[in-house]
Parts: sequence; structure tokens; C-alpha cells
Amino acid sequence: MKLTIFGPTGLVGQQVLAQAIAAGHDTTAVARDPAKLGAQVHSAPNVRVVTADLSHADPALLKDSVDGADAVLSAIGPRKKAEHGIVSKSAMALAAAVESASVPRLLVVSGVGVSTVPTPGRPHPPKREPGAGLIMRYFATPVARRVLGAHFVDVALMEDFMRGCELDWTVMRVPYVMDRPPTGRYRTAYGHTLRAALRIAAADAAEFMLRLIDQPEASRKVVTVAY
Ligand SMILES: NC(=O)c1ccc[n+]([C@@H]2O[C@H](COP(=O)([O-])OP(=O)(O)OC[C@H]3O[C@@H](n4cnc5c(N)ncnc54)[C@H](OP(=O)(O)O)[C@@H]3O)[C@@H](O)[C@H]2O)c1
Repeated sequence: MKLTIFGPTGLVGQQVLAQAIAAGHDTTAVARDPAKLGAQVHSAPNVRVVTADLSHADPALLKDSVDGADAVLSAIGPRKKAEHGIVSKSAMALAAAVESASVPRLLVVSGVGVSTVPTPGRPHPPKREPGAGLIMRYFATPVARRVLGAHFVDVALMEDFMRGCELDWTVMRVPYVMDRPPTGRYRTAYGHTLRAALRIAAADAAEFMLRLIDQPEASRKVVTVAY
């Protein structure tokens, strides 16, 4: 497959990129600081590196970076408070690029619990996500909302945007992401969440994200992955 990966220097994105390269996919890695990608990525024969900052990216450059791709995958997230807003902003920019280049699939990373956040598009969201149990409702989601604050709202805005767009999208929700070896064993849920969805290793989340590309049942759905 031909893939374009955004956020390839982050916890989840690094794993998506590494697994895409290992699987032999023809991969474009779009990073604002390509030096972070490391020598192995730069020397891989099946990787093209593009430099772009999604907070002010040129639409023509974005279109070029996704042109001909079978799927675009984004694991963009803010590194600091000043970058809150980048998740929804980058999703809109990527959706425009995907649409103008007629890319068939767009997959983005989101967080478990975000659909309980009120947004202008969903002013009265449910108190817990469908499928979530008491741990999620009374512990995990309130903690995430408190710790992540404006970023949590931004991810909820991104989900609102994706639900409203006409593309063939998939939103993959993850709980707390750990930098641990993959287990290859995790639970998944399509269109609802999981009870006690508390943790996932970045490598397992990445493996699932790559599998979602050609799953028709993931089309235009929010899916969840967790242990
Ligand atoms: N980690 C978790 O526990 C967790 C839990 C739930 C949901 N999520 C969501 O999952 C997504 C990925 O999380 P993560 O932990 O893998 O993120 P991360 O490690 O913080 O990495 C974020 C990635 O986004 C890139 N990025 C940020 N701003 C950018 C910009 N303006 N232009 C281009 N690239 C930009 C970063 O590039 P640089 O390397 O150049 O900074 C990096 O590659 C996030 O949206 C996050 O909300 C994460």
C-alpha cells in the first residue's frame, strides 16, 4: 500500500511509521522536524520524508504529500499547552488535502472518553460513552478531562468534524498510551467503547490502526482499542 503518515515522531505515530516501513508499504512521513525521524527512517528505501508544520501548512504541499496514497493516517497531538487546538486544526487541513487528492481513506487518533465533552455541535453529550462501565464513567474519563483540559475538548471537536465530513474516515480512540513492547492481544470495539479501557501500548495501537485501513466495518466509525 501507499501510505502518508502525520505525527510520525510521536509515541503512536513512530510505531505506525515503523510498522508501515517493516510491512514494506510505500510510505510518506510528514514531520515538522524530520531530524527526529532518525537515520533508519531516512535510509529506508520505501520512505519519502516531507517537512510540514500543520499549524500553518501550505495546502498545496499537503495535497502533494498525500497524492496517490491509499490511506492517510494521523497521530498528531500537542506537545505543550500552547499547541492545544492542533488536533482539530490538522484534521481539517488533512481532510481538505485528502479530498482534493481523492485519497480513499483517512484515519486519525482520538481518545477514550472525549465524546462526553460538550461541544457546540454536541452541547448535551452522554455522561458516559456507550459501552463504558462505571470505572470509565466515574474514574478514567473525569481524570482525563481534568488532566487534559482544553486538549480533550479539541479532540472532541476533531471527532465532531470527522463525523460531519463526507470522506471514508475512521477515528481510533485510545486510552492511556504506554511505550511498551506490543502484546498482540487487545480488545477492540466498533461504534461503541470498551469497559475499563485504561491502557494500550503504542505498538499495539499502531498495529490496529494499520489493520483498520482496509476494514470496511471501520468505515465512517469511531473504534476503540485497549487491553
Ligand atoms: N498518549 C496518550 O496517552 C494518548 C491518550 C489518548 C489519546 N491520545 C491522542 O493520540 C494522539 C497521538 O498521541 P501521542 O501520545 O502519540 O502524541 P505525541 O507523542 O505527543 O506526538 C504528537 C505528534 O504530533 C506532531 N505534531 C504536533 N504538532 C504538530 C504540528 N503543528 N505540525 C506537525 N506535527 C505536529 C508531533 O511532532 P513533534 O515530534 O515535532 O513534536 C508528534 O509527531 C494525540 O492526538 C493524543 O491526543 C494520546
